[in-house]
Amino acid sequence: MADADETGQTVGPGAAPGSGPSRAEAAVELSGVRTGPLRAGERVTLTDQKGRRKSVVLAVGGTFFTNWGAVSHDDLIGGPEGQVVRSVGGQEYLAFRPIARENVVSMPRGAAIVYPKDAAEILVWGDVFPGATVLEAGAGSGALTIFLLRAVGASGRVVSYERRAEFADVARRNVVTFLGAAPPNWDLRVGDLAQAADLEPVDRAVLDMLAPWECVATVAGALAPGGILCCYVATTTQLGRIMDTLRAHGGFTEPEAREVSVREWHAEGLAIRPGHGTSGHTGFLVFTRRLAPGVRAPQRRRRPAPGAYGPDYHGPRPEGVPTDAEVE
Ligand SMILES: C[S@@+](CC[C@H](N)C(=O)[O-])C[C@H]1O[C@@H](n2cnc3c(N)ncnc32)[C@H](O)[C@@H]1O
Repeated sequence: MADADETGQTVGPGAAPGSGPSRAEAAVELSGVRTGPLRAGERVTLTDQKGRRKSVVLAVGGTFFTNWGAVSHDDLIGGPEGQVVRSVGGQEYLAFRPIARENVVSMPRGAAIVYPKDAAEILVWGDVFPGATVLEAGAGSGALTIFLLRAVGASGRVVSYERRAEFADVARRNVVTFLGAAPPNWDLRVGDLAQAADLEPVDRAVLDMLAPWECVATVAGALAPGGILCCYVATTTQLGRIMDTLRAHGGFTEPEAREVSVREWHAEGLAIRPGHGTSGHTGFLVFTRRLAPGVRAPQRRRRPAPGAYGPDYHGPRPEGVPTDAEVE
């Protein structure tokens, strides 16, 4: 099990002598996970007997006021996670530190965030691995950045572009607040990725922005052969545009588009049914791989769907796709 240093940062199993990085080296692997007794200054989530949740920052002598009377912070400080505290009026509250997915949906936002269900898909379909160098834009509120930093680990690197300075500030604050410090392997750059020159080679890239097609050429210049690009877009119009831009570029594999839908379930005795928490639409995910330098994607043998690139289509046209007039 991971153990915590005096700042509450997890230092992990590698801290054992001779079994991996030293405690000092491992300490830069910021995970945001804290273990051990609850401390003053930490945020905890209190869940009441109806499942309602409240977030509280613990303070010595502090009080959390509820409809069922006060809960003293001192009853929590020094105790373990998963303990139950009782308000003056007898309501019981379960106390846990929030985990990453809970944190990202409740942290302050500049721009809309990548939701945890989509972040999970990005990490697996995007094959984000420990030690990888990942390029992302825009950093927005830093939600995806947190998951990327955890996935690449201390030996990896995340380079985040954000063109709005005020959003970059929000992202920086959110990442530092959650991880406990500024990760040394995170490079947050204020600027437009489409204009970025001399980008270092990267293994993976994630574009979460209104017009990812504007950044395809830049990403193509930095992404290693075999590297994976993921684009996260909200609307079908954006989806079509990025798919056809990637095809027209020619230096990527045929892009795959996906949407993640999650259905929660209620299972209690004989009452087994879909829960209330079925996800709504958040965004579409497009995945593609970079081809070797100078290699063009093989021309499609499959005909596009009728009308796909007809007279009303004005977007990027993949190589070899005949116009409707040519087909007739
Ligand atoms: C939806 S938000 C990103 C949210 C972020 N992924 C998160 O999980 O918190 C989109 C962001 O992309 C930024 N952006 C748009 N185009 C950009 C570009 N070409 N280069 C850098 N940032 C860009 C916007 O300013 C905005 O903050």
